[in-house]
Amino acid sequence: MKSLAWAVVPSILCIGLALGTVPLSSVRRVSNLRTIPNKFIVEVDSLASVPNKRSLSPHEYLYESLKKRDVVFEVDKEFNSQGLFVGAALTLTDEKDVTALLNTPGVKAIRPVKKFQRPVPVKLHVVAGPDDAAIPPDSESTHVMTGVDRLHAEGVTGKGVKIGIPFLLGSQANIEQQYLGIDYTHPSLGGGFGPGHKVIGGFDLVGDDYDGTNDPIPDPDPLDQCAGHGTHVAGIIGADPGNMFNISGVAYEASLSSYRVFGCEGFVTDDVLVDALLLGVKDGQDILTLSLGGADGWTESSSAVVASRIAASGKVVTIAAGNDGSSGSWYSSSPGNGIDVISVASVDNTVIPLQEATVGGVAHPPITYFQTFPLPFTGALPIYATSNDTTIADDACNPLPDSTPDLSPFVVVVRRGTCAFVDKLANIAAKGAKVALIYDNGSGFAAIAVGDFPAALIQAADGEFLVTQFAAGVPVTVTFPQIGGSVQFPDPEGGLVSAFTSYGPSNDFFSKPSVAAPGGNILSTLPTTQGSFGVLSGTSMATPFVAGSAALLLSVEGKTAAVAMGARTLFETTAQRIASSHTDGDPLQTVTQQGAGLINVFDAIHTTTVVSPSQLILNDTAYFESLQTFIVKNTGKTAKEYTLKHVPAGTAITVRPGTIFPATGPVPLTSAAASVKLSRTSFTVAPGQSQTVLAQFSLPQGHASSFPVFSGFIEINSGSESLHVTYLGLAASLKDKQIIDTTDFFFGVPLPAVLDSVGNLQDAPTNYTFVGDDFPTLLFRLVFGTPVFRVDLVDANIQLAGTLNARAERHGAPFFTFPRPSSSGSFAKVKIVGPLAEFDFITRNNEAEDNGFNTLSFNSPTFANGTQIPDGSYRLLVRALRVTGDATKQEDYESWLSPIVGVRV
Ligand SMILES: *[C@@H]1O[C@H](CO)[C@@H](O)[C@H](O)[C@H]1NC(C)=O
Ligand SMILES: *[C@@H]1O[C@H](CO)[C@@H](O)[C@H](O)[C@H]1NC(C)=O
Ligand SMILES: *[C@@H]1O[C@H](CO)[C@@H](O)[C@H](O)[C@H]1NC(C)=O
Ligand SMILES: *[C@@H]1O[C@H](CO)[C@@H](O)[C@H](O)[C@H]1NC(C)=O
Ligand SMILES: *[C@@H]1O[C@H](CO)[C@@H](O)[C@H](O)[C@H]1NC(C)=O
Ligand SMILES: *[C@@H]1O[C@H](CO)[C@@H](O)[C@H](O)[C@H]1NC(C)=O
Repeated sequence: MKSLAWAVVPSILCIGLALGTVPLSSVRRVSNLRTIPNKFIVEVDSLASVPNKRSLSPHEYLYESLKKRDVVFEVDKEFNSQGLFVGAALTLTDEKDVTALLNTPGVKAIRPVKKFQRPVPVKLHVVAGPDDAAIPPDSESTHVMTGVDRLHAEGVTGKGVKIGIPFLLGSQANIEQQYLGIDYTHPSLGGGFGPGHKVIGGFDLVGDDYDGTNDPIPDPDPLDQCAGHGTHVAGIIGADPGNMFNISGVAYEASLSSYRVFGCEGFVTDDVLVDALLLGVKDGQDILTLSLGGADGWTESSSAVVASRIAASGKVVTIAAGNDGSSGSWYSSSPGNGIDVISVASVDNTVIPLQEATVGGVAHPPITYFQTFPLPFTGALPIYATSNDTTIADDACNPLPDSTPDLSPFVVVVRRGTCAFVDKLANIAAKGAKVALIYDNGSGFAAIAVGDFPAALIQAADGEFLVTQFAAGVPVTVTFPQIGGSVQFPDPEGGLVSAFTSYGPSNDFFSKPSVAAPGGNILSTLPTTQGSFGVLSGTSMATPFVAGSAALLLSVEGKTAAVAMGARTLFETTAQRIASSHTDGDPLQTVTQQGAGLINVFDAIHTTTVVSPSQLILNDTAYFESLQTFIVKNTGKTAKEYTLKHVPAGTAITVRPGTIFPATGPVPLTSAAASVKLSRTSFTVAPGQSQTVLAQFSLPQGHASSFPVFSGFIEINSGSESLHVTYLGLAASLKDKQIIDTTDFFFGVPLPAVLDSVGNLQDAPTNYTFVGDDFPTLLFRLVFGTPVFRVDLVDANIQLAGTLNARAERHGAPFFTFPRPSSSGSFAKVKIVGPLAEFDFITRNNEAEDNGFNTLSFNSPTFANGTQIPDGSYRLLVRALRVTGDATKQEDYESWLSPIVGVRV
């Protein structure tokens, strides 16, 4: 069976949590699949399995076979990495060639070419102010959180390790990427390119002008001075100490190579990613790190499969977990989903590097304002309040009164609320104001959008103090120290999992993410053209942190395949568990968002106990693996006594009770936990010896209809050492989870639905001519991922009780799919006229504007194989296979029959 994975493209629409809010008229009648039409990544067998063809390369053999079948094709890229991936990216032009490609000997898999959006980190601030040599260490806090500071103190800095940075990472919403280039002209990144520099090599696979729709124009120079993401990522791994912010990379003596996969704008496709990964392997990188991806939910995309094979071959591969936390569970990102890949969650930094202003004319401690660099004004400036009443919500939302003085000498103090910050600033600028402090109207404190106006947010209490003093006639002044004003403001969310981190598990029940690292509020390098330093947030920032940590590990333990393959286990078993909040009594964060916890690199490198495996996957109730084993090995020099205990994490209520909809993030947690019986809870292990432990799990109490994902840890303690194994299970059967949305929740009309030639709901038999806009469009939403989604044409009078009550820009390039032959089981007994489309391993939709629904437009009257559909009256039969269902069993599919669709060509 050839597999075809599929993802959907973002669409323009907004949805609140109110029901039925999206107008049907907003749906464009073009397929919104997030793949490149008519282009495929074809994997072929190595020649050994093709008899008598040893004189040809596998590629030549493929092309010969296709030509013999009169297939017209273009080769976009060739992959030739024996043992990892052999094949090609091909563009076809005729739907009729689908069958020929499918039947070509030696073809192992045909996968669509997915699009990955560029990373969208949360940009807090581009640092662009004056040089301030006295700014104290700040992002060092991330090193303290993870024990990296203690390794640096031991002189462990990653020397001799090579890290390839194909920058990419993403989510269904935003596949992020780390296959951006690096601005190696940055003084903290070595200032140059090539042997002898920090950035020793790399390649630009795409060129500045590449946007994912045009042809890449590769060149040997991966310099990036437009995007910035890659430079930030590179600084987290490798920035040299001794810069103005006193920050350093985790492994600043490692050598970096940059494989640029994003142009200045647009997205990147799977074939480019596979190419970049294989190139990194060929160049001898020890570690590959990708800060990109997109929500996917399965382990099957080309780049996920190749990344996992590379990891299994003895390289460390770190990939971002995704930034789709708000979309809830079962929404993990690819290629981070690759089974052996280290998928990285983000933890918020404990501090945010901010600035302080000093207050004159009255005794008051310095006021922290939300800027990384000082506002560029010197001297003590008097203040002016636009209102003396701190309860006025729409302060400065209207033009200021004529009585207002010239505001140019003042620091203007304005209350937040009602209108946009830029509107308030425009009103004070109209009176000559040059700088402003906006005080919060509640308990908020964050970066704000102020346009080009020099302004920053301060906390409510500070603003109210200033205004009260001003109203009382006290001559208060404010000074912005240009040197020494930086503070490490404690982040109230510091140390917790960043809310944006995507939740797993994958639909095939692999534990994603793997571990967490600091990724929220991270100060690092930016291109020199963008201010040289800046604060960004995202799993894109957490990912290079783990890559750098792996470099420290390899530099200490040796750059062997065994060390690389053991890295994930070491990092997971020595990680620190993360709470779900700072409130006492709240459960630990679910493993489906924190992975095994916050990485502790010092412990990973210095542990003298090795526990494996690091993860116990209990699967769902239908395939419940209640009995698990793990091994505790004493690698120290003396005998050790161990004690074990169960530490549950919060159980994730992944589906909103009483509905078929996944809970949005933050996913609610309960403290209903699994129980565990261990064969031993204390034992002694001699040096070099191991002890096997059996663990017998029982399900937690709870309602299976909310698909509770339970997780937690078995803690293994000896003296000052504390390690853990992580477990994960589902207290429900995946096969019970409904996939197709049959409600009117999203559009106010029940789904699935067929839209007619003008986009109205087709509620009666309708004939289509397939001329111009006169064709049907299938509109549907998936509330869960499915391994097989299939649309067949069936007789209008088919006797089939449905279990339940669009191709990309079809006007342009053709969009082909590869429906499997329905030759066996009860599935084959359903009589169809012919298949229209099949998509394998597709992700669910979310409730946001980027992936709210799917459209599939049938704008030519042909079957999937390109053969003309005879005129007649039919229905569309839509089927989605339940997760863990048997593809040959009709009863394992959800099915829906459309109203009568007449083909009248
Ligand atoms: C920079 O950080 C190092 C290590 O934390 C510290 O010893 C040093 O004093 C810092 N330098 C400055 C200028 O703050
Ligand atoms: C603060 O102002 C914003 C913007 O107008 C508003 O959405 C928010 O509700 C206000 N908060 C409070 C606590 O008044
Ligand atoms: C606010 O208070 C100051 C100082 O008492 C005063 O000069 C100013 O006129 C007051 N503004 C308004 C609008 O009442
Ligand atoms: C869970 O069980 C299903 C059904 O046997 C299987 O396909 C899947 O691979 C299992 N997941 C893991 C992570 O073992
Ligand atoms: C569709 O076309 C057929 C053949 O011309 C005709 O008999 C039928 O009435 C048409 N149906 C509708 C709903 O127009
Ligand atoms: C294409 O598919 C249709 C419907 O299944 C079938 O009747 C027809 O024979 C196929 N054509 C070819 C060339 O395989």
